[in-house]
Amino acid sequence: MSFTFGGENAAQTLIVPICSDDIEEMGATRLPSWLQAYSLLPHMGERGALTWLHGRIGERDALLVGCGEASRLDTERIREAAGNAGRAIHKHKKERVDINLGELLKRCEHSLVISEAEAVTAWVEGWKLGTYAFEVYRTKQTKHSEVSLQFLTEAKFEVLNEAVRWGCLYAEGAILARNLANEPPNMLRPKTLIEKTIEHFALSKVEAVVYEGESLEQQGMVGLIAVGKGSKYPPALLELRYCTNETLPLTALIGKGITFDTGGISLKKDFDISDMRMDMAGAAAVIGALDILAAGDVKANVVVLIAAAENMPDGEALLPGELLQYPNGVSVQVGNTDSEGRLVLADALIHAQRLGAVEAVDIATLTYSCGAALGSKYAGIWGEDTIVAEIVQAGKQVSEKVWQLPLVDEYEAYLHSDYADICNISRVGEAGATTAALFLRKFVQPSLRWAHIDMASLKDVSSAQGWHSAGATGYGARLLAQFVRNRTLRESSN
Ligand code: BES
Ligand code: ZN
Ligand code: ZN
Repeated sequence: MSFTFGGENAAQTLIVPICSDDIEEMGATRLPSWLQAYSLLPHMGERGALTWLHGRIGERDALLVGCGEASRLDTERIREAAGNAGRAIHKHKKERVDINLGELLKRCEHSLVISEAEAVTAWVEGWKLGTYAFEVYRTKQTKHSEVSLQFLTEAKFEVLNEAVRWGCLYAEGAILARNLANEPPNMLRPKTLIEKTIEHFALSKVEAVVYEGESLEQQGMVGLIAVGKGSKYPPALLELRYCTNETLPLTALIGKGITFDTGGISLKKDFDISDMRMDMAGAAAVIGALDILAAGDVKANVVVLIAAAENMPDGEALLPGELLQYPNGVSVQVGNTDSEGRLVLADALIHAQRLGAVEAVDIATLTYSCGAALGSKYAGIWGEDTIVAEIVQAGKQVSEKVWQLPLVDEYEAYLHSDYADICNISRVGEAGATTAALFLRKFVQPSLRWAHIDMASLKDVSSAQGWHSAGATGYGARLLAQFVRNRTLRESSN
């Protein structure tokens, strides 16, 4: 795939993004005059619509890509259209395509709201993510022709080149997260997750430390040790440091890295739990975010922590009723071994504060009930209001949405234990995602700017649509990279 710029409309195929109000019932259209020779219908401009206009011999083809109502055009709709267009171009084996995004913005009177550069970034991201497929283990991989896409534009080369660069960086970070989360569970154990990650960052400015075996014990990482003890593949904590500006406050990005969650002795009873191989999607998200920051050479001071374990039932496994004594003084009754995510995140939160983090964001596939509350388009977020607001803002920018839910003090009583400070499972059948957040808050000092993201229902999708491909979404990588990057962007604009 290559992206270029030019003024000359020369390719065999022209992609024309259109809006639903570009074509009226009677066929009247605001579209360029050459398109008026075709009989166009309003539905061709609807979100998700794709229409091929095949040229006669010697003429070029056009692919109309629906973007919905002109007044609601935003970077998300451009990203979505790009994913849909990318798959159609691959399917029809086209090699050279042109697109004019500046013309779309002008036609929608959006050229002042969305810059051409922003539209180009969104298009590149959507295209790369929408045409992604996880085919590592297929004997016969789908053969796609090498597509060369030219943006028809009069804008400055440097500006658009930078826009393409960021689009590629964001897409590649999310693709790294998707690749990790899509791995089958026998191909990605805690150690392999860590090795693959370290190998990925080998040539970058990222420095890695691994805590396993004795060093895990020395650090008092009782959650990881407990959750991992039923598996023959031992648990570990991976610390990745990326610091290009020491004067910045240290930000910790923490990911739940359960490479498979059977539930442990509190075994899951669902018919098919194979998607629990993606219970490390939070870890994948923070690894993807770090990839974007490091590859983009963003000025930042970040530590990424991956709490990796496999949750298995076994003669050695963690038993319901066991007591864990965390080094911050909190004792925990393990009421349910399937509530393992919060146990390992607690270790990472304590470790982040030990390292001097001023702010910390944890991201995890933590509870079914978060999906029941918000569905599959929004992740839940809890925490200190100012950091939550910054993440919500980043989510809007990259269209990885988060919705703030309250930390209701009264619900803390639901975590009551008869013999420990708290239990890892609520005794009341409501607000399950919030009680998980309240559990985590027990490991957060008041001075830490902390946010917790529950992305359980966003980890994967069943079919390709817009910039999503079937399988892992890579959710969180672009969101957290944007969150960290916004500080640099804010400071450089001051
Ligand atoms: N990994 C699961 C949560 C999950 C659900 C992730 C759906 C992805 C998709 C988590 O460890 C879990 O089992 N949570 C339990 C907690 C309960 C036992 C308190 C849940 O949400 O039911
Ligand atoms: Zn679980
Ligand atoms: Zn889990």
